[in-house]
Amino acid sequence: MTTADLPVSAPPGTGAVGRPLLEVRGLRVRYRSGGRPFEAVAGLDLTLHQGETLGLVGESGCGKSSVARAVARLEPDVSGAIVFDGQDVARTGGRALKAYRRRVGMVFQDPIASLNPRRTVRDIIATPLELAGGHDSTAIAARVGELADLVGLHPSLLDRHPHEMSGGQCQRVSIARALACVPDLLLCDEVVSALDVSIQAQVVNLLMDIREQQRLAMLFISHDLAVVRQLSDRVAVMYLGTLCEDAPVDELFARPAHPYTRALLASVPGNPTPDTALLTGDLPSPLTPPSGCRFRTRCPLARDTCAEIPPTPKQIRPDHHVACHFPIDATP
Ligand SMILES: Nc1ncnc2c1ncn2[C@@H]1O[C@H](COP(=O)(O)OP(=O)(O)OP(=O)(O)O)[C@@H](O)[C@H]1O
Ligand code: SF4
Ligand SMILES: [Mg+2]
Repeated sequence: MTTADLPVSAPPGTGAVGRPLLEVRGLRVRYRSGGRPFEAVAGLDLTLHQGETLGLVGESGCGKSSVARAVARLEPDVSGAIVFDGQDVARTGGRALKAYRRRVGMVFQDPIASLNPRRTVRDIIATPLELAGGHDSTAIAARVGELADLVGLHPSLLDRHPHEMSGGQCQRVSIARALACVPDLLLCDEVVSALDVSIQAQVVNLLMDIREQQRLAMLFISHDLAVVRQLSDRVAVMYLGTLCEDAPVDELFARPAHPYTRALLASVPGNPTPDTALLTGDLPSPLTPPSGCRFRTRCPLARDTCAEIPPTPKQIRPDHHVACHFPIDATP
């Protein structure tokens, strides 16, 4: 097989992948720990096309949620560009921010805690519509019914409170709320992690159906590589606040070129990755990141250069980028 034969993209989602919807450039997200500022995201680039699903993976603490929250404009200390549909929304406020938020829905990990316990399901789903304005109560009631139907919630559940429902039902409510204003982009942060395995499959299938019907783009964050593989068109791998590698899903799983991606894939039972280097040691603290390549303290291939020069992402095959000085060539 030549590089020209490689699938550039084989979307399991909506089929055709459109123009860029979201372009994140040089994203930095800062927090403070014990009064000291540090970067949880340290200069990250991501591109998400219309109708495309991008999986975002990496160990706990690498900054995945910080990326999603920054894109949703929920983080206060952020720099870089967040270009959505051609407009940089990183610093917009007022009406423009309100309009942006309507186009981006977010679903979080903890299905019950992310819903207001004092409101009924009906009120929870109606809230974004009320905030958006322009709908009378009859239109809102009709839209809530439509959304409940879309996410497979029986109408009898609309008068319940979150604590009277299962985790899976609550996650359906969160999805309905996120879809209320017909967004173009859905940010899904570990949306199935807290659910039982059988319920996880139902929620994953629901997301796949919805994204097809609504032509949604999705940023799908999960530590479950099997689910990411099933849902994503492309996958981006993060390590300690930086991007290691991104590629179309089949390409990434078949030919991982970054030593960290290889280690991550090798940790999945039954994965036929040829590399056997398993990940050892802990993730360093983002307060004191290693110089040069942030992965070098755990990398089996590290050389002197790696401590001196931070690697920047380079294209090694069509639509496949790797930030490593010595990427592994896995061409069969
Ligand atoms: N509000 C905060 N204040 C201080 N530090 C934070 C805050 N939120 C996140 N962090 C730190 O920033 C880093 C990145 O956190 P983040 O939650 O984005 O990681 P993650 O990849 O989503 O992890 P997980 O897989 O566990 O959800 C971690 O070191 C975390 O402890
Ligand atoms: S740049 Fe060096 S340390 Fe970093 S992943 Fe590549 S080989 Fe390993
Ligand atoms: Mg997280």
